Amino acid sequence: MKKKLYPKVLLVLVTIFLSISYTNQLQSTHTRTLLRIKRLLNFPSILSSWNSTTDFCNTDSKASLSVVCYEQTITQLHIVGETKPQQLPKNFSIDSFFTTLLRIPTLKVLTLVSLGLWGPLPSKISGLSSLEIVNMSSNFLYGKIPQELPLLSNLQALILDNNMFEGHLPDWLDSFPSLTVLNLNQNLFNGSLPDSLSSLTNMRVLSLSHNRFYGSVPDLSRLVNLQVLELDDNSFGPNFPRTYNKLVTCVLRNNKFRSSLPDNMSSYYQLERFDISENAFVGPFQLELFSLPAISYINISRNKLSGMLFENLSCNSILEEVDLSSNLLTGRLPKCLVSNSNDRKFLYGGNCLEETNQNQNQHEQAFCHTEAIAVGIGLNERKKHKGVSKTVLAFGIIGGIFGGISLVALIFMIMIRRRNGKTIMTKNSKTKLISEKAASGKLITDSRHVPKAMKFGTVSLPPYRAFSLEEIVAATNNFDTTSFIGEGSQGQMNRGQLKDGSLVAVRSVKLSKSCRTRDFMQHIEFISKFRHHHLVSVLGHCFEHYLDDSNVRRIFIVFEYVPNGSLKTWITDRHYRKSLTWTQRIEAAIGVAKGINFLHTEIVPSVYSNNLKITDVLMDQNFVAKISSYNMPLLSNIGKVGQGNIFKSPSFNKSVKSEDKFDIYDFGVILMELILGRTIKSRNVDTLKDLLQSSITSDDEARRSIIDSSIRNACLDQSLKTMMEICVRCLVKEPEERPSIEDVLWNLQFASQVQDAWRGDSLSSDSSPISPLPSQRMNFH
Ligand SMILES: *[C@@H]1O[C@H](CO)[C@@H](O)[C@H](O)[C@H]1NC(C)=O
Ligand SMILES: *[C@@H]1O[C@H](CO)[C@@H](O)[C@H](O)[C@H]1NC(C)=O
Ligand SMILES: *[C@@H]1O[C@H](CO)[C@@H](O)[C@H](O)[C@H]1NC(C)=O
Ligand SMILES: *[C@@H]1O[C@H](CO)[C@@H](O)[C@H](O)[C@H]1NC(C)=O
Ligand SMILES: *[C@@H]1O[C@H](CO)[C@@H](O)[C@H](O)[C@H]1NC(C)=O
Repeated sequence: MKKKLYPKVLLVLVTIFLSISYTNQLQSTHTRTLLRIKRLLNFPSILSSWNSTTDFCNTDSKASLSVVCYEQTITQLHIVGETKPQQLPKNFSIDSFFTTLLRIPTLKVLTLVSLGLWGPLPSKISGLSSLEIVNMSSNFLYGKIPQELPLLSNLQALILDNNMFEGHLPDWLDSFPSLTVLNLNQNLFNGSLPDSLSSLTNMRVLSLSHNRFYGSVPDLSRLVNLQVLELDDNSFGPNFPRTYNKLVTCVLRNNKFRSSLPDNMSSYYQLERFDISENAFVGPFQLELFSLPAISYINISRNKLSGMLFENLSCNSILEEVDLSSNLLTGRLPKCLVSNSNDRKFLYGGNCLEETNQNQNQHEQAFCHTEAIAVGIGLNERKKHKGVSKTVLAFGIIGGIFGGISLVALIFMIMIRRRNGKTIMTKNSKTKLISEKAASGKLITDSRHVPKAMKFGTVSLPPYRAFSLEEIVAATNNFDTTSFIGEGSQGQMNRGQLKDGSLVAVRSVKLSKSCRTRDFMQHIEFISKFRHHHLVSVLGHCFEHYLDDSNVRRIFIVFEYVPNGSLKTWITDRHYRKSLTWTQRIEAAIGVAKGINFLHTEIVPSVYSNNLKITDVLMDQNFVAKISSYNMPLLSNIGKVGQGNIFKSPSFNKSVKSEDKFDIYDFGVILMELILGRTIKSRNVDTLKDLLQSSITSDDEARRSIIDSSIRNACLDQSLKTMMEICVRCLVKEPEERPSIEDVLWNLQFASQVQDAWRGDSLSSDSSPISPLPSQRMNFH
């Protein structure tokens, strides 16, 4: 420590015995090291005051520059460059920079922010084994986090925001038992989070905003100290993260969450900031959130949260901003949010709220109800096809909002103070840390959006939704004649193209009686269930209202557009198309059978008597067969609404025995058409059935002689025989004796497997020995 001398004497000493003087203040090697750092950093202006005579330990600390010493060693080094740093020149070597830093092995706190550092973080950083806090934000560091980092066993805070680090977050995180702050905002990390995060029970701040992380968030409920959780601008999902209820900041904005909110939100009594906007959260929004004791910011906009607001709702008066827009909320605006709204920002447009005086547009009540229904459907579908849909990842460059910065600073202080008990701390640094909360956070708004409607692929459909009339009119070019596809008992069909480019088919159903939107809700709910891989599925609906009253004039039902012609054309249009192979025919039959199975067993109430025809089976671009004309409840007799079951049609009469077997018969005819390669009039079915029947028991050659010539040499006899057998059974007179749809499916799968096994064995078209059959029964889902 500095000796107490008279000022004059000191001055003399400094002037004459320079070297001796600073040896007393700081080991000369440290001085040389610091000056070398200055040189390696290319003489940044922030270090202009450093020269060989500087008394490093005793210069005034600034927020951007300080050196903290303890007993002639440096324990803290803070250098913060300009806000928009230039990358250091080519001759900068991060490796030699760290080699130099290693000469100060006593460093506990290292802040090197906005200095233009570039290169991969060298593994030799692990040599600075005393490090407790590292903040190297806003540089140009890239590559992976070095494997050797766990050697820094004292590390409490690792802050690498705003760099270009990439790769997965390593699984060795649990080797930092004392880690309290992990800030990796604005990097290029990807992959899912390691489960080892779950065991970092000291964690207070976990900030991973704006990376490319995806997948589910590990269970954080054991992190009882966790106060800041910032995961915005990633692709996390689908479930709301499990956390302990001491969270202060919870930011999940712009991810792929689509679950409901946890039930215990009302127990988050420390929660100040809650931002879950731009996800697809569903289910009820807990109104207790408004009255949490510490809450000051709520943003749930652009989700699908439902629920009813009340005028008399209570809310915390310190709420500064509430954004509920674009959800499915109904009810009345809470008085406590509307009044004294001068300083409070309150947004609620795009819901279905009543009597909003202000200028925030609302949907009709019906919109929120149907959308909520659609959400329910979406959820069920997701449960069924777990993980089928390919996620389309889209990332924008967005600056994070450092909501928890002040808190972070506070935590730093606490940590430093705690350590201070046994070591040091200059008062300068304390104030510095607090003043550091002036964040350098940039805010660039993102114009890019994750494409909402995914390409109407064959695997996953876009979620069911309500369309606006404008959309329908634009899509069909105002029902231009060129968009006309056909007209049936259920109304006219038009082709259309949505804004995102996807093609749709729109059925318009004119109504004869005047009805209000809400009369249709039950109906729409039912219609919205017609979604399956092997159905031409319903994508949504739209109401057209009369201008004078709000009665419904027309209903539009929007279907996916299936582009590739009907199954019929693929076996009969020899001039235009290559006819389907045997394998493709079996696949198509399986598709149709699965569609029937869906209509019979997965929709409630079941849909029978679909009057299936080969012309109504459409093929998509991947040759997936889809049933286009099923017994959807007729909207034309909607006038009977209110007089009982609006879905009533003759086929719903329970007294008809074996009602499901009508479809089986129709399916048998389609099978026959596939086998024989031509369309069949109903009066010929019986004759042809007998022909098939007899050929089953005759020899191979006879069998082949009657089938479609284009498949004659390419189908395995065993497979053909199975198909013929099931076809004949479907066509028996007595409905009860026809096979069940499950039975049909099993046989088709069997025929397919035999054929595949054979083709796999030998691709020649001659018959060859059957390879061993797969022994298991197939799974139909
Ligand atoms: C890097 O190059 C610049 C000139 O481009 C020079 O001024 C500087 O001293 C060099 N730095 C090092 C560490 O060699
Ligand atoms: C070192 O910097 C101080 C100001 O920080 C200045 O007064 C002094 O003259 C400088 N010394 C040399 C040798 O440049
Ligand atoms: C993660 O990023 C790295 C490098 O940027 C890349 O090689 C890797 O394929 C990515 N992994 C995933 C699963 O996206
Ligand atoms: C608030 O209003 C709703 C209906 O508008 C009522 O059911 C509820 O009891 C009221 N709550 C309070 C605390 O007054
Ligand atoms: C890292 O240091 C910079 C500059 O001092 C500061 O603005 C930022 O808040 C620090 N990061 C954290 C997480 O404390």
